[in-house]
Amino acid sequence: MTHDDDASRDDFEPAPTQARLAVPGQGWSDVGEGMTRLATAVASRHHGAPLPYGSPRDMLAAVADSLGPQRIPDEGVGEHDALVHVAGLIATYGLDLTHRLTAAHLQPPPLTVSVIADAVASATNASLDTYDSGPATLAIEKWTIAALARMAGLPSTAGGVFGPGGSFSNLLALLIARDHAAAQRRINTRYHGVRDLRQPVVFCSRVAHFSINRACATLGLGETAVIPIEVDEHHRMIPAALGRALAATGGTPVAIIATAGTTDFGTVDPLQDIADIAERHNVWLHVDAAYGFGSLFSDRLQGLVAGIDRADSITLDLHKIGWQPAAASVLLLRDENRFSSLGRNVAYLNPEDDEEAGYGGLLGQTLQTTRRPDVLKVLATFLAYGRRGLGDMLDRCHDAALYAEQRIAKELQLELVAPVTLTTVVFRYRCADMDTVNAEVRRRLISSGTALIGRTRVQLAGDDWPRTCLKLTLLNPLATEADIDELFDELLRAALEVESENAENESKQVNP
Ligand SMILES: Cc1ncc(COP(=O)(O)O)c(C=O)c1O
Repeated sequence: MTHDDDASRDDFEPAPTQARLAVPGQGWSDVGEGMTRLATAVASRHHGAPLPYGSPRDMLAAVADSLGPQRIPDEGVGEHDALVHVAGLIATYGLDLTHRLTAAHLQPPPLTVSVIADAVASATNASLDTYDSGPATLAIEKWTIAALARMAGLPSTAGGVFGPGGSFSNLLALLIARDHAAAQRRINTRYHGVRDLRQPVVFCSRVAHFSINRACATLGLGETAVIPIEVDEHHRMIPAALGRALAATGGTPVAIIATAGTTDFGTVDPLQDIADIAERHNVWLHVDAAYGFGSLFSDRLQGLVAGIDRADSITLDLHKIGWQPAAASVLLLRDENRFSSLGRNVAYLNPEDDEEAGYGGLLGQTLQTTRRPDVLKVLATFLAYGRRGLGDMLDRCHDAALYAEQRIAKELQLELVAPVTLTTVVFRYRCADMDTVNAEVRRRLISSGTALIGRTRVQLAGDDWPRTCLKLTLLNPLATEADIDELFDELLRAALEVESENAENESKQVNP
């Protein structure tokens, strides 16, 4: 272990064996002061790049080496050395989402207010399962869920629950939809499983998020339950194809899943048309708006998700558009009563008489028991910035994406693969052996500590198989046009370098 800043050592005392608690008041200020001193202690160690310079193998080995033998030490070294070591590893080998050239995933730089509120959430360590596990957090979650449901246009019967990610919210939505479809057929899946549910099927677009397949596998429906529906040239589900698939199925429809904000393109399935079809066939409509829900913050973009108010359930992730540290996912239900298949009374937590007396909590609305109050950071952010403040941040990211689109149009070697809808830009570098070169360009930018961009595979018109493309996911509201230009300059430079190295290698093979 290294002692980077011995001057601040005393501030992190006491000795290892004496526990120091993050109690309200003094404990919270201890946390704040500790953060300040820690920031000073590791300031010089920040690598200043999106990701550290070097190969993944070297970086991972460096972290492991720094930690030494893989065992929990018998004796501790005290708070100071422990915290400096951990924070130092993050500063030296971690990811910097606030870097101007970080633009890979739906993983935003978090707002300071949300990080502070998240520290408060950690310090209180309240839960949401029962009243006595945290009364304030319980009331705050109910208030925030009601506010989000109102923003989505759901009726006053709506309810919801926070959870650890969009994948989990989708799983919960499908579980509730499965139990609902079964209950309509007088089948009790909770007690008897899915054995009596005849060939359950779930409909979603071909480009829906993979968590839908995982959820079906987890829920005993099997991945073959997923019926992928064809998409149009904008990667949106074709409603007529959905209608045909529903008419043709011999199975039990469990849910139709529309995506509002596809992971790669940000496009939104035609929600009104899909809602009409769901209504006609009396099938549960889930809208996976993990990415796109945030459009509702923006006066300019909210029209994109028109029709979301007709959903039976909605997944939304504020750790995407919402600038929250992970996780801040929410599942909204049009009718709170539909949570009933998850309801449960447990003797040590929420016995019936306690619940009747008002001591219950949200245990019966999710699969988790102890649950972190992720809602605190969300509430603090909503109160600090308001809907307009968040809408303004989204508009800036959208503007950055539109600017990137213009830049691509100006570059002969670049080809736009899909027009911008939200904050992603999908494109590729044109050359011989495009798939290999595009993939290598991204790795080169990462390992040189220059920029962090994403990649994906897209089925392009006229091609027999999906092609490797590059992707920017722009979620930094402070990124400027100059930053976007710098990113493309670096990308083009890296692409030329890769191309010329490939040409050199080829000529060596021909003339060894
Ligand atoms: C459309 C969509 N749904 C669900 C998810 C899963 O969210 P999470 O990563 O929070 O589990 C993602 C993640 O990118 C997504 O884009």
